[in-house]
Amino acid sequence: MRPSGASEGRRLTGRRPGAGGKARERCGARPQRGGMWGSTVAGKDVLRVSAGSDEIRCAVVGYGAAFNQGRSHARQISETPGLRLTAVCDMDPARAAAAQADFPGIQGYTDVQTMISAGVADLAAVVVPHRFHAPVALTCLRAGLHVVVEKPMALTIAECTAMIEAAREGRRMLTVYHNRRADGDFLTLYDLVVRRGLIGEVFHIEYYSGGYHRPGGAWRADKAVSGGAFYDWGAHIVDWVLGLMRDGAGDGGRAVPMEAITGFFHKRLWHDVTNEDQVQGIIRFAGGRTADVQQSTISLGPKPRWRILGTGGAILDRGDRVRARGGERGACVVAVPVAGHAAQFQVPYGDRDPSSFYARVHAHLAGGASVPVTPESARRVIAVLELAERSSAAGQAERVPYEDSLGGPHCTWPVG
Ligand SMILES: NC(=O)c1ccc[n+]([C@@H]2O[C@H](COP(=O)([O-])OP(=O)(O)OC[C@H]3O[C@@H](n4cnc5c(N)ncnc54)[C@H](O)[C@@H]3O)[C@@H](O)[C@H]2O)c1
Repeated sequence: MRPSGASEGRRLTGRRPGAGGKARERCGARPQRGGMWGSTVAGKDVLRVSAGSDEIRCAVVGYGAAFNQGRSHARQISETPGLRLTAVCDMDPARAAAAQADFPGIQGYTDVQTMISAGVADLAAVVVPHRFHAPVALTCLRAGLHVVVEKPMALTIAECTAMIEAAREGRRMLTVYHNRRADGDFLTLYDLVVRRGLIGEVFHIEYYSGGYHRPGGAWRADKAVSGGAFYDWGAHIVDWVLGLMRDGAGDGGRAVPMEAITGFFHKRLWHDVTNEDQVQGIIRFAGGRTADVQQSTISLGPKPRWRILGTGGAILDRGDRVRARGGERGACVVAVPVAGHAAQFQVPYGDRDPSSFYARVHAHLAGGASVPVTPESARRVIAVLELAERSSAAGQAERVPYEDSLGGPHCTWPVG
C-alpha cells in the first residue's frame, strides 16, 4: 500500500518522515503540563504546541465527490494560518488523485495506516461515510494524531466513548465538525432563547423535517453505512435542540441533562433502501422538560419546523421568508404575553457566523482556547440517535448515560 500520487516519499515539511509511532513524538503538540487530562477533550485544558514550533501538518481522510466535503475541509485547513495541508487519503485512488490536482504539492494516499506510517500529519480530518468515523478516528488517535471528525461523531455511544478515552489517554485533541452551530437561523434562535432568555424557561422544543420521497444518496440510504435515517441531517437537528435546552439565560447557562429517550421508527414504504422511512426521538430532560424531533420521508402532512415553548412565550418557524437586510431571508415568529394577549413579531434570521472552525482548532492546539466542539457534547447527539432506535425496538424509554459529565457548555463554537 503506497501513497497514490507521484509524490511518494517527497518531504513537504523539510523534516524527516517518521514511522507511525514517531508521529506522536514529533507532532509538536505535546502537553506542557500533566494532570487533568480528563478535561482536555472537554475543552478546558489545552494541548499546546511547543513554543516556536512549525505549522501543524494536517491530512484529510475522505475526499468524496457527493458534497465535496473533504475538499471543503482541505480548503479551510489550507486557508488557516498555522495549519498546513500535507496529505489527503481516500481509498479511491481517483479521489486521492483529484485532491492532489486540487492542492498541488500534497501527498496522496489510499490507506490511512500507510499515511500514518509516513509521518506526514499531526492532525487528521475524518470525512468518510458514517460507519467508518470511529474506526478511522481511533486509528489516527492511537497513532498520536489529533482528530477532527465529521458529524455524526460515530454510530454508537460506545464508539464515542472509545474515541474520547483514546484522545484522553494519548493526550490528543478530539473535536467534531458540527458546522451548523454557525448557521444564521440557529444563532438567531440561540440569541433569543439562550442569551436573551426572551421566552423564559424553555420546557418544550419540537423540530420537524419531512417530505414524501424515496431516500436517496447511495450509502446515505444504506443503514449499515449511514447508521439510519436519523444520522445525517438528524445529527445537526439534535445538536441544535440540545444547544437550545439550557438552564439560565446568557452564555453561562448549562446544558440541561437528558434523562431518557423514547423513539418511534417506521419502515413502511421505501423497501428498496434500508434507512427507515420516518424516525422520531422524544427526549425527556431533567425537570420534566421535553423535546420531540421528527424526520420523515413518508409525510405529506407538514408541521412547523421549529416550535419552542417557554414559560414567557413561544417561537414558531413555519418556513416563512421575509424581506430584511440583504434581501429575502427565513424568519421565526416570537409570541410573548402582553396584558393578557399574545403579541407576535417576526424575527428575520441573521447571517451565518463567518468565524473559522479551523482557526479555533489552531487556537486550541497552539495557545489555550477551548476546543471548538467538545466530543462530550457530540456524544450526547449520538445518545439520542442510538437510544431512540433502541427504544423504538424495545417499546420503552431508554435512560441516557454520561449525563453527569456534560463537559461544560454545549456550544463553544462559534457562540461560546
Ligand atoms: N457537516 C456538513 O455540513 C456535511 C456535509 C456533507 C457531508 N458531511 C459528512 O462528511 C462525511 C463524508 O460525506 P461525503 O458526502 O463527503 O461522502 P462521499 O461518499 O462523497 O465521500 C466519502 C469518501 O470517503 C472515502 N472513504 C470511505 N472509507 C474510507 C476509508 N476508510 N479511508 C479513506 N477513504 C475512505 C470514499 O472513497 C469517498 O471518496 C459524512 O460523515 C457526512 O455526513 C458533512
